[in-house]
Amino acid sequence: MSPPLPALEEARTLLAGARRVCVLTGAGISAESGVPTFRGKEGLWRNHDPMTLATPRAFAEDPQLVWEWYDWRRSLVLACTPNEGHRALVRLEERVERCDIVTQNVDGLHRAAGSTRVHELHGQLFVNRCTACDRQREVRSSGLDGLPHCSACGVLERPGVVWFGEALPHEPWAAASQAMTTSDLVLVVGTSALVYPAAQFVPTARAADVPIIVVNPERTDHVALADHHLAGPAGQVLPLLID
Ligand code: OAD
Repeated sequence: MSPPLPALEEARTLLAGARRVCVLTGAGISAESGVPTFRGKEGLWRNHDPMTLATPRAFAEDPQLVWEWYDWRRSLVLACTPNEGHRALVRLEERVERCDIVTQNVDGLHRAAGSTRVHELHGQLFVNRCTACDRQREVRSSGLDGLPHCSACGVLERPGVVWFGEALPHEPWAAASQAMTTSDLVLVVGTSALVYPAAQFVPTARAADVPIIVVNPERTDHVALADHHLAGPAGQVLPLLID
């Protein structure tokens, strides 16, 4: 599936005139790398209940189950590499004055591809965080040998991701908020527009008169706010848009 040529050409012209670009990404950009999305036909939330796996209460009630689920996700992502969509965004960064990537993804694939201004709103899959002292450490492997504990204070660690009902981390949130309204263009790639507060960035950019391009095979609520909707998979559409 490729977007119609006139829409693509108009979007290319819009992007060519932009010096500062802000890109909001969701699970769809990693789909072609083999990372499952959350809400599609094969989506993670089709077969797993987020309330028993991705909330502070779920972790308090059954840390073993929650850790096993995140460990399984780590094993999935360890087998994945960045795709043409991630790589096209790296080339975009090389070409423009500033390219901020605001991502809801925890897979780290934007950084693995080489993007440098990445704001990870929902945390990182490959980080353990102490539930007592907040100390964080990177863990680039999968396989649980009991529940992980903090090397500094000995208390149980949790996955370094944001769960439902938790506030987003301040630094990426502040950087994302600024980038959304001070860019010449917002590019929205592979998100269902259903999860707040991240989904709110697009109406905010619209209110600030920042042009918006949506790349998604489906029509999401963001499409009604966009100047252009390029319907197709990110790994195919982003190279056509950017190169
Ligand atoms: P979703 O799974 O809700 O949506 C994925 C979107 O990607 C859908 O709109 C698809 O149409 C689109 N898509 C699928 N394949 C694509 C492709 N090859 N190219 C481009 N788009 C494609 O994922 P998110 O919107 O990222 O939060 O979900 C947001 C948050 O909900 C996640 O960060 C996660 C989840 O619960 C937490 O865990 C806190």
